[in-house]
This record gives sequence, structure tokens and C-alpha cells, in this order.
Amino acid sequence: MEASQRHSHSFVPALGFDWLTPLYDPLVRLALREDEVKQRLVDQSRIAPGMSVLDLGCGTGTLTLLVKRSHPTARVVGLDVDPQILEIARGKIAAAGVDIELRRGTVEEADFVPASFDRVVTSLVLHHMTSEEKLAALRAVREVLYPDGELHVADFGPPANPLMWLVSLPVRFFDGSDRVGGNLSGQLPAIMREAGFAEVEERGSVMTPFGTLTFWSAKGKR
Ligand SMILES: C[S@@+](CC[C@H](N)C(=O)[O-])C[C@H]1O[C@@H](n2cnc3c(N)ncnc32)[C@H](O)[C@@H]1O
Repeated sequence: MEASQRHSHSFVPALGFDWLTPLYDPLVRLALREDEVKQRLVDQSRIAPGMSVLDLGCGTGTLTLLVKRSHPTARVVGLDVDPQILEIARGKIAAAGVDIELRRGTVEEADFVPASFDRVVTSLVLHHMTSEEKLAALRAVREVLYPDGELHVADFGPPANPLMWLVSLPVRFFDGSDRVGGNLSGQLPAIMREAGFAEVEERGSVMTPFGTLTFWSAKGKR
């Protein structure tokens, strides 16, 4: 059974099942080298003062908050399709007392003004989508970016060695191998190019207890 068929909704929740969503922050912090990965993604994004930044699939808002804390003058928007996880993000953002806009939905259905973001950052999200959904989402990301805007991604990538292949099995189970498979087989750069991005580059990877996490960057075409 496909992961999305286990739910009444069409998306796969953060940990594969709605009842696991409240455990997302402690599990990801422990299991996926979260602080290091998210800081590296923010550093890689080279956000300048006053830029507009979209966090696609913001989940509990950890990356969204890190972007805002690192770049207080940036306009920061978090977008996620899951209302349950957005409530957690809303609580964290209110506690932090910072100005972050949260929106519910997919980037295809969000009515963002075309060419209105300098950066789109996204971590651990694309592996939740089938290849067709990845392409549609990335095309929509391309539309909302300025022509010289940039996409920065951290997500599961090709396993660095047989051990990394083995430990990625639980992610295939929880999030669906029809979705994670495209990441693990190295299809993401080709899908980014097909969606209209240029200068698609792998920016390194780290090994985690649940598989290899890879960093990519891509530029909107002028
Ligand atoms: C594993 S969580 C990652 C959350 C956060 N980005 C992080 O790094 O902790 C994946 C998130 O992507 C969201 N998501 C999945 N498909 C989506 C889509 N098509 N559009 C927006 N969000 C999506 C899920 O609801 C979930 O919150």
C-alpha cells in the first residue's frame, strides 16, 4: 500500500503517520543531525539582508525560525500542506516572538505572486513526493523565484555506501518507496533541470542513522 493511501489526505505526513507528528522534533533532532544540516543549508543559501525567503514544506518551523534568526531583516514565509504540523510551527514561532508568515497548502496551489522570492529553501520534503509531484512542485518553485533567485535543498540522496542503503529502509517504509525511491536513485538533479532550473549542483552530503542526506543548489534561469 502506498504511504499516501494510509491517510484520508493526499500527502504523506512528516513521519509517515499523523499520530507520530507530535514526536517529529525530538526524533529528527536525534536521528538526522538536524542542527548541523539545517545550519549548513542556511549558510549555503547566502541570504542577504531584506531578501524574501520561502521555506517549502516547513513542517514544525525549525528551519524557518533558523532562517529568520540568522537573517532578521529577511521576509520569511513557511508553507506546508499539513495543518497539524503547522499548528506546532505556529506555537514555536509565537514563543519566539518573530515575524514569520505561515501558509497552508502546496506551492502549486498557493497564490504567491510570480517572481516574488529570492530564495526557496526546503529540507526533507521532496522525498515525500512522487516523481510527478516533485516536477510539479519544482516548476511552481521556479515560477515564484525571481529569475536570478536560487533553490537550496537538503534531502535524502543516493546512499553513500551499502550501510547507508540499509539504514534508509525505514524511510522507504514510512514515507513510501514510490516517493523516496527517486531521491535515492539520484533523480533529483534531472527533475530540477526538467523543471527549468540551471546550474544544478550537488553541494555535499552527510551520513545519518537513516541514510545519506545530500545538499543541492539550483538557479532560476535569467
Ligand atoms: C519530513 S517533514 C520536513 C519538515 C521540515 N522541512 C524539516 O526539515 O524538519 C516533510 C514536510 O513536508 C510537508 N509536505 C509534503 N508534501 C508537501 C507538499 N506537496 N507541499 C507542501 N508541504 C509538503 C509535510 O507536510 C511535512 O511537514
